[in-house]
Amino acid sequence: MRRMRLIPLSAVCAILAATLLISPQPISAKKPFATPSPTLYNPYPPGILPADLDSEIARVQREITFIENEALAQASALPTPMLTSNPPTIHGSGYQAVKILGKLLNFDLNMSPFRNEACASCHMPYVAFSGPIPSVNLTMIAYPGSFHFRAGKRTAPRYTYSPDFPVLELDPSLVNATPPAPLAAFFGGNFWDGRSTGYKLQSPDAEQAQHPPVDPLEMGFADTACIAFRISQAVYRPLFEQVWGAGSLDIKFPNNTESICEIPGGASVFGTNVQPVPLKAADRTKADRVFDNWGQSVSFYERSTDVSAFTSKFDAFLAGNATLTPDEMAGYNLFRAQPTAILVILTEDPAPWRRARPTPVPRRQPGLCSPASVTPIWACP
Ligand code: HEC
Repeated sequence: MRRMRLIPLSAVCAILAATLLISPQPISAKKPFATPSPTLYNPYPPGILPADLDSEIARVQREITFIENEALAQASALPTPMLTSNPPTIHGSGYQAVKILGKLLNFDLNMSPFRNEACASCHMPYVAFSGPIPSVNLTMIAYPGSFHFRAGKRTAPRYTYSPDFPVLELDPSLVNATPPAPLAAFFGGNFWDGRSTGYKLQSPDAEQAQHPPVDPLEMGFADTACIAFRISQAVYRPLFEQVWGAGSLDIKFPNNTESICEIPGGASVFGTNVQPVPLKAADRTKADRVFDNWGQSVSFYERSTDVSAFTSKFDAFLAGNATLTPDEMAGYNLFRAQPTAILVILTEDPAPWRRARPTPVPRRQPGLCSPASVTPIWACP
């Protein structure tokens, strides 16, 4: 049975008053709330938190806001959706609508308790969608979360190819191999350890986008319903409803939802309750659906040519439109002779169990051995 513990507003206020000090720095396309910032958390030895951390975070927030505003402009330039056919489909601009929605969600700083952290805080375009702060990369390695300065567990990898990773699965050809190779039998999933399996949405990348919002070290909401709540307040709410259905955000959020969503996960007031927003069962189901749709939209943006344009010389070469130099060709042949190395280098993915699959198989192209023209993640052995 679902826990529906209601937190009295007075308790929430007391917690906020006790733990939160200074006034807010919400930087977002959405009209900011008067959200307090937390007391600094610094249990680290000297030298771990870089001296320019605050100014660098502020810089990245400005950049994120710029891109969010760009996405808002793109959203307003979308044509009125033409919903036709059965099943009803947005004709003409459907792909654009989902991609722009994904971009808006990905770069929205409101998707964190203190409205100061988006997915993009750790994945920016100019560093191939990895961590954008040089001093953090040299010191903390892991990136600061919404609650400053809790920090994630690992370095932020690029996600340029992550939408192409398959659902975590056992390779049937290896399960019964002799000698048994249990590690080598797994492949797919997202994250270094594949814990975003993709079992439910059948997309590890879409499910991956459901982890940071409720990771107390990252975006840090206490409840997944806070994502639905903040989207329901967003200026781009109409676009979300166009894509995912009128009424998808009609959820009866209790009056204290904002107060609850402003408290980061892990706060003692929540105890072990991971659903502190008291929703009726039907509303909880709707919020869960919004959370699934959030992941799917974010993932579609990550898959788009905005993220991986596949316009490199190597892509042109695979398409037969460019010639490699002798050195480049020698390198290409070397990798062709070692297909596992191709997989590792082109996906920048050193996870040993992913590397272990002996022969990478092209997934989205007809004819196993014709080089891909647009998705050169795979090459022929
Ligand atoms: C605080 C920094 C931080 C934030 C915020 C963050 N990420 Fe990440 N991201 C990471 C780290 C660290 C990892 C690797 C963690 C691991 O593998 O355990 C990661 C991994 C990923 C991966 C997996 C890539 C792969 O090769 O499997 C994707 C995709 C991704 N992030 C997208 C997102 C999206 C989408 C959001 C927002 C919903 C987001 N990230 C928010 C730091 C962050």
